Amino acid sequence: MTDYQNKTDESTRLLPATAESLALAASLLHRGDLVAFPTETVYGLGADALNPEAVRSIFAAKGRPADNPLIVHIHDRDQLEQLCDIPPKADLLMDAFWPGPLTILFPRKNTVPDVVTAGLPTVAIRMPSHPVAAAMLKASGLPVAAPSANLSGRPSPTTAQHVLEDMDGRIPLILDGGPCDVGLESTVVDLCHGQPVILRPGGITKEMLESALHAPVTVAGSVLRPLEPGEKALSPGMRYKHYAPKGTVTLIDGNEDSVVPALKQHCLQDLKNGRRSCVLCFSEHVSALKACNPHDMGSIHDHAEIAHRLFDILRQLDEEGMESVYSEVIPPEGVGLAVMNRLGRAAAFRIIHA
Ligand code: TXA
Ligand code: MG
Repeated sequence: MTDYQNKTDESTRLLPATAESLALAASLLHRGDLVAFPTETVYGLGADALNPEAVRSIFAAKGRPADNPLIVHIHDRDQLEQLCDIPPKADLLMDAFWPGPLTILFPRKNTVPDVVTAGLPTVAIRMPSHPVAAAMLKASGLPVAAPSANLSGRPSPTTAQHVLEDMDGRIPLILDGGPCDVGLESTVVDLCHGQPVILRPGGITKEMLESALHAPVTVAGSVLRPLEPGEKALSPGMRYKHYAPKGTVTLIDGNEDSVVPALKQHCLQDLKNGRRSCVLCFSEHVSALKACNPHDMGSIHDHAEIAHRLFDILRQLDEEGMESVYSEVIPPEGVGLAVMNRLGRAAAFRIIHA
């Protein structure tokens, strides 16, 4: 067993997915080591979900609080029986969205170690669609517990290079599968407590879930605002400050005509005061904001592209040492809800109405 907490001297191998590297990944997982791997959402940091020591080393490598539970990844529905009970509604969602970017909470069985679920009575499970993730899960035959492969508090990694930035010297292997398609973490849905609730929005939207379930789905209140004092987080991950660049991010809301001038005014004022400042804007506004270090989020009409680029842009802000950042917003509908959940948290929900 490796002591990941103090492990900074050993090199991390970054390998393309081949028969050899997948076999290496499987053998590392079997002996309790960690492997970072691509999924269609973000890169994951995996360990054998049934090996508590191996799972503990995930928390050490990330610096993750022990009370934040992990998602278990599988490649075959037959693996579920060993891990959990299956509520009837779950079949509808699995039929519609697996493999894919949807995580479902199930009543857990005792085979799942406490360290995976942080002692909760439910276990979060998903079947990723990324071919490299599927091949690794199949090669190992194990259920693999995996959070996003970033250091705790950093944006989730959407390229193998992002994983290397955070995990170099901490883990033996990163499988490189290129940039992740969706770019935001999976939708997490709870079916265990009455009406289905989205705990974390993602690429599978509320509307998509409702149409598969033929029933209304609600969204946890804390998705678009900070937790109130004393409010219990339905999903422990919601408690933590996430995705926050080092600089101050402020969202600017308003109509077509008011937002661009407001972005310009705030950013130029900060630049004049000697602060490193920039704007995050739609492709359509880049040229109007060229004096403001514009970072192109993608077209105003292409919310999937904005989701795809967001975490890479948040990482760039730190590399560039940005001290203040002003960002456009999109309507919190469809995949826009997931974008605004992440962007809102990056901004600590600071918003100016222009
Ligand atoms: O797309 C994804 O979901 C990626 C890839 C690697 O699969 N994984 C990921 O894991 O984002 P992580 O650990 O960064 O986020 C898992 C979220 C956390 O907010 C956690 O609190 C929540 O899921 N979660 C896990 N198990 C839970 C449970 N039993 N009850 C409530 N929330 C749970
Ligand atoms: Mg994460």
